[in-house]
Amino acid sequence: MAGIYKKLALGVALCALGGAAASAEGEVEVLHWWTSGGEAAALNVLKDDLQSKSVGWQDMPVAGGGGEQAMTVLRARVTAGNPPTAVQMLGFDILDWAEQGVVADLNSVAAEEGWDEVVPSALQGFSKYDGTWIAAPVNVHSTNWVWANKAIFDELGLDEPSDWDGLIAALDKIKGAGYTAVAHGGQAWQDATIFDAVVMTTGGPDFYKSSMIDLDTEALGSETMQTVFDRMAQIRGYVDDNFSGRDWNLATAMVIEGTAGVQFMGDWAKGEFLNAGKVPGQDFLCFRMPGTQGTVTFNSDQFVMFAVGEESSASQAELAKSIMTPSFQSAFNVVKGSVPARTDVPDADFDDCGKKGMVDLAEANEKGTLFGSMAHGHAAPAAVKNAVYDVVTAHFNGEFDSAAAVDELVAAVEGAL
Ligand code: GAL
Repeated sequence: MAGIYKKLALGVALCALGGAAASAEGEVEVLHWWTSGGEAAALNVLKDDLQSKSVGWQDMPVAGGGGEQAMTVLRARVTAGNPPTAVQMLGFDILDWAEQGVVADLNSVAAEEGWDEVVPSALQGFSKYDGTWIAAPVNVHSTNWVWANKAIFDELGLDEPSDWDGLIAALDKIKGAGYTAVAHGGQAWQDATIFDAVVMTTGGPDFYKSSMIDLDTEALGSETMQTVFDRMAQIRGYVDDNFSGRDWNLATAMVIEGTAGVQFMGDWAKGEFLNAGKVPGQDFLCFRMPGTQGTVTFNSDQFVMFAVGEESSASQAELAKSIMTPSFQSAFNVVKGSVPARTDVPDADFDDCGKKGMVDLAEANEKGTLFGSMAHGHAAPAAVKNAVYDVVTAHFNGEFDSAAAVDELVAAVEGAL
């Protein structure tokens, strides 16, 4: 994990949740941003699972992909002294809340269920604070994917491209045939999701690490970074006129419906295809951003329990335990598009994209090419992430050229540290 996140000694006592809930009656209020069709379908798997254990579900959805709006609502709720029982959260945000001393201690559930042995260490870096389990990871997503309409690829005789030039050639053909080549929604987190993948394909894993994780000024200000911005501008040339502000799932719908060729998006996009009854390999293709094969930029949705008092502790423990059950991790991730957050879940129920996701994750972990996603809060704390968002989005919208964007990026990151 990045050295810039200086862990403070935990001076505040975390409220410890009881072990396995003997009687888990009660309810949980869950703050989340899973409001698209595919996301809601996955969330239902969790709701149903809890209902079968007599734990009621009070839904607190806050729309907005990537979770920025949800985090704003969370801050307001905590400030008002009324935190939700459980919150969907990403990466460095989890550690930030733990530092505030307002989250529950999951150590006894984790010990009973053996989480230490089965959760990949890259995830544990965000699920634990000062050695204490403070979050239950429900999945692993990755951001360096391309989702393509198979009928368009077939019609134009396109193969899955394997490098940047091949990608551009394919996009030219798609555009030339009258389709929108790239389905995109102009929102900062979506621009940044593409940026993750373009940094990786342009500079490779070492460059991704030095620029996005280590926040090394030389890498941020390098010629390679200028090429990254040039390539972002190139992609900008393939989106349609109405891209501004579009939600990510509406962009996915353009690929599903066959008005657009590809979307660069994390594998939550697969949840939308599945929810629309589409089949991988038959209706749509999933492949890695050309040039990023063998690498994975990940984000993991985790559930953090807020310290809200004794009366909720049994249902919170049950929620954490349910999330981590292998059969649940399979059932949920099959629908969500992600892969399990445990290493011991069989891939039998996953489709080809899911199986590939599991193999890619294991390989990248083994080879040291698994890195946290900047766009989704796993590379740097929120202040840095937001600074990167600002520059990437301003450049994508033509506010400055690539050379200026590099200078802005260096200054923005330095200012946020
Ligand atoms: C990500 C989250 C995913 C998905 C996506 C779009 O940050 O990890 O689970 O929900 O946002 O909403």
